[in-house]
Amino acid sequence: MYSRLRVCAACARRFCFSAPVRARVSATAIGAQDASSSTPPTPESERLLSELQAQTATLAADMRTHLTPDSAPDKLSLMMRHHLDAPGKLVRPLLVLLVSHVCNAGLPACQRQRTVAIVTEMIHSASLIHDDLIDGSDLRRGAASVQSRFGHRDAVLAGDHMIGVASQLLAGTGHPLVVRGMATAISDLVRGELDQLGETGDLSRYLARTYRKTAALLAHSAKCAAVLAPGSSPATAAAAFELGRSIGMAFQLVDDLLDFEASDVQLGKPAGAADLRRGVLTGPVLFAMQTCPQLRAAVARRLSRPGDLQLALDSVARADGVGQTGCWPSCTAARPTGSSASCPLCRPVRLCTRLSTDC
Ligand code: IPE
Ligand code: IPE
Ligand code: MG
Ligand code: MG
Repeated sequence: MYSRLRVCAACARRFCFSAPVRARVSATAIGAQDASSSTPPTPESERLLSELQAQTATLAADMRTHLTPDSAPDKLSLMMRHHLDAPGKLVRPLLVLLVSHVCNAGLPACQRQRTVAIVTEMIHSASLIHDDLIDGSDLRRGAASVQSRFGHRDAVLAGDHMIGVASQLLAGTGHPLVVRGMATAISDLVRGELDQLGETGDLSRYLARTYRKTAALLAHSAKCAAVLAPGSSPATAAAAFELGRSIGMAFQLVDDLLDFEASDVQLGKPAGAADLRRGVLTGPVLFAMQTCPQLRAAVARRLSRPGDLQLALDSVARADGVGQTGCWPSCTAARPTGSSASCPLCRPVRLCTRLSTDC
């Protein structure tokens, strides 16, 4: 199991699988391998990562305060509390803090950068609440999803409320570029979710949708952190955007392949080809479709015949759709030309190193 996932161990440790998920899907369990192209973690980078993770925990507490003010123990607070009680991996605020650290020449994130980190997690959380509604998913982070616990109507409002609170905080930065960047990320995300509903089976459309749905938020928030750094330059902001985009692309591809490879218990959300079962075509299926006309035909009829789902699962396994998704160098949106073991996160990590030396 997981033997074909080729995220190298160093990158897995750094970004994709931070503490809570590592406990469920450890780097060893996912078959993460050391790729020769990856920079091994140094004691300094490990120390920095734990420092940033500690700061991220503080941000999560601040987020809770903003979303569940004691003065208003109402239905909204109840829903917010329910969602926050099952914490996520906090990858997005971690990235914002990392970019802030690098662009501030080693100084910790300033208040406005911290706000971007909180806002990013709020937008992400709102998108998950709405995503579970769209997907009809009952499980999130190992607990009942907001929609299953409180119903559809209230879940729409809970997500909207989070976006509202995030917008208030964003306005507090008083920085039009930051407000615009994060607003663009929200509208990209919505468009990406919508694109997914009309997926045709085209790989380039899948990548475009993956950018909008997931990578845009990481890209814009990383850029906003850079923009807010003292002496920020357009080149630094562009490098930060590229870093966030690359990590975001890789992150969603890994999520899409884990849907085939992991279990509900490991991921804390429905897995076991849950995407395919509800008609969403992701990397593993799209790659398999390239070489399997029978699968293309089954997808064209929306897996409506008895046996179509099994045919699709068998085709994905035969064509190694999961392995191909794991090997996709998502940061360049191009097929690998060299080693099939290239890790999709190594380039982001290298970009980060470059960003660090540029500043
Ligand atoms: C889930 O994101 C949705 C994707 C974009 C893949 P995360 O895996 O970051 O979710 P949490 O916040 O850790 O639960
Ligand atoms: C959701 O993608 C990404 C969002 C922008 C909400 P997924 O549908 O793959 O996320 P999970 O797997 O439900 O967490
Ligand atoms: Mg989903
Ligand atoms: Mg998913």
